[in-house]
Amino acid sequence: MKSIVFSLTFLSLFTLVACEGEDPVPEENTRPKTVAEYNKVTEGLIDYYPRDEYFAVGAAIEPASLDKPGEVALMKRHFNSLTAENVMKWSTLQPTEGNFNFGPADRIVDFAQANGMLVFGHTLCWHNQVPAWVFKDGEATASKELVLQRLQTHITTVMTHFKGKIYGWDVVNEAIDDGSATYKNNIWYQICGADYIYKAFETARVADPAAKLFYNDYSATNATKREKIYNLLVDLKGRGLVDGMGLQGHWNIEAPSNALITAAFDRYKSVDIELRISEMDVSIYPSDSDPESEYTSDISLKQSAAFGRYFSLFRSYRNDISGVTLWGMADNHTWLDNFPVAGRKNYPLLFDVNLVPKQAYFTVINF
Ligand code: G3I
Repeated sequence: MKSIVFSLTFLSLFTLVACEGEDPVPEENTRPKTVAEYNKVTEGLIDYYPRDEYFAVGAAIEPASLDKPGEVALMKRHFNSLTAENVMKWSTLQPTEGNFNFGPADRIVDFAQANGMLVFGHTLCWHNQVPAWVFKDGEATASKELVLQRLQTHITTVMTHFKGKIYGWDVVNEAIDDGSATYKNNIWYQICGADYIYKAFETARVADPAAKLFYNDYSATNATKREKIYNLLVDLKGRGLVDGMGLQGHWNIEAPSNALITAAFDRYKSVDIELRISEMDVSIYPSDSDPESEYTSDISLKQSAAFGRYFSLFRSYRNDISGVTLWGMADNHTWLDNFPVAGRKNYPLLFDVNLVPKQAYFTVINF
């Protein structure tokens, strides 16, 4: 009996040792940590964040980038989702009534399709970059009925044109007020009240039932604004009109805090909708009044830590987040060079003005 026990013990010990020997050697982390190492490999963000495991990684682009080989290479290496930074907005798509101009947007969609990338539609209804004619009837202000009818025509024509080619649309952009009011008192609201929001989503749902419909806004982590957005999402969800929330993510090297971000993620996901970080950049200026600065090593360290902090949160919410889109590809082209201070150079992205990865990039991919 003793010898059987001994043999069995010996056998299991042997098996254990043998199995241990067969364990796969832990994969060596070959992810680059320096520009020299980056130049020796071909992988990019989409390899370190595979879409099926994490989320789509996107960038907002202008069609002009498609004519620049360096930017095309950067795009293909790092991004699997594209958003038109401007050319899917009303002022480009329908500058005058009934005259649709799909050329510039089609270039982006064609490029994305040829390269197996998703396209995110931005944006069907916004108070900026919408032509004045939409709200005019001759010299007079147009009636609510006329404005809503134009909204319906625009959304139906645009979504029909791109049908089957767009993952999701920012149907309404930035409709919630930053102050004490519920809705932003924009031209849409002044003429239509909140009905323009419902009209936009209802029309979009009919125009392309397969497209995901998003509400998109900035300062979406602000606690007061968050609750107003949440109420709108609950209302829209109850009507079967919304599938996702886009948090723009125009953040900076200090804010928002992890607590605010997670509170916002938790609140929006409780509506049972997808989350997207739709327009991410990380300004080097925490305050509007900060003077212009070079991209110093101190700023590089702070920005790298901030990007690392934000992406770490994204990874922990990867089951809820379907996409993270940066608002631009590299620091050579960013709207923040002219906002909130015209001409104050900013450096808010993962690649520098020469398309070379910054420390923030290495932090984001080494986890
Ligand atoms: O197209 C004209 C060009 O013909 C003209 O010569 C030139 C002179 O200034 O202006 C060009 O238009 C500019 C347009 O971008 C295209 O480059 C506008 O002046 C400029 O104001 C506009 O800025 C865009 C901004 O939206 C408008 O509000 C930014 O590129 C774009 O990044 C920004 O994106 C928005 C999102 O759609 C919504 N969330 C906020 C985000 C940042 O503002």
